Amino acid sequence: MAYIEKSFNIPNNTGLSETQIQLHLGLYAGYVKNTNILLDKINALKSGEDAVVVSELQRRLGFEFDGMRLHEYYFSQLSEGAQALDMDSKLGQLITTQFGSFDNYIADLKRIASTRGIGWVITYYDAENNSLINVWVADHELGHLAGLPIVFVIDLWEHAFMVDYAPATKADYVSTYLSAINWEVVAKRI
Ligand SMILES: [Fe+2]
Repeated sequence: MAYIEKSFNIPNNTGLSETQIQLHLGLYAGYVKNTNILLDKINALKSGEDAVVVSELQRRLGFEFDGMRLHEYYFSQLSEGAQALDMDSKLGQLITTQFGSFDNYIADLKRIASTRGIGWVITYYDAENNSLINVWVADHELGHLAGLPIVFVIDLWEHAFMVDYAPATKADYVSTYLSAINWEVVAKRI
């Protein structure tokens, strides 16, 4: 079944420009489109006669699918406008237990976001250990933690901020994005 491009109710006071958001949403649409194209081509080539072609298509699937899904996390976090995290929620309690405070958790995200290169900062929830893990994922698909649900993401590809911010001011983009988050949306993920 084909994937459908999602829409996000993003207010115009995120701190990111309309142009920045719209261009980024256009890139997201490309990931949805390419995920569907790849799945169609892989299904059409299942005879096994084109093993090399199929394996290259399979390799690209992780890139396009993760690019699609990670952007859905990213934009849905902006939906309906900024909302503070309820520190009595499960996520709030985990953050307090593990990081000491919400501010410390944010500082950890910012520290990881300063990683050079393109990729994502991701917070996962490990139900087996009842803990949060913050990770850098390169590109869209390299470094994910197997089986763990994604709680929070920050897009650190340059396309996410370079309409509004120069590369040397990436940290300002991260601060702006973090100030625009609807933490009620995020808290519902665990
Ligand atoms: Fe992006």
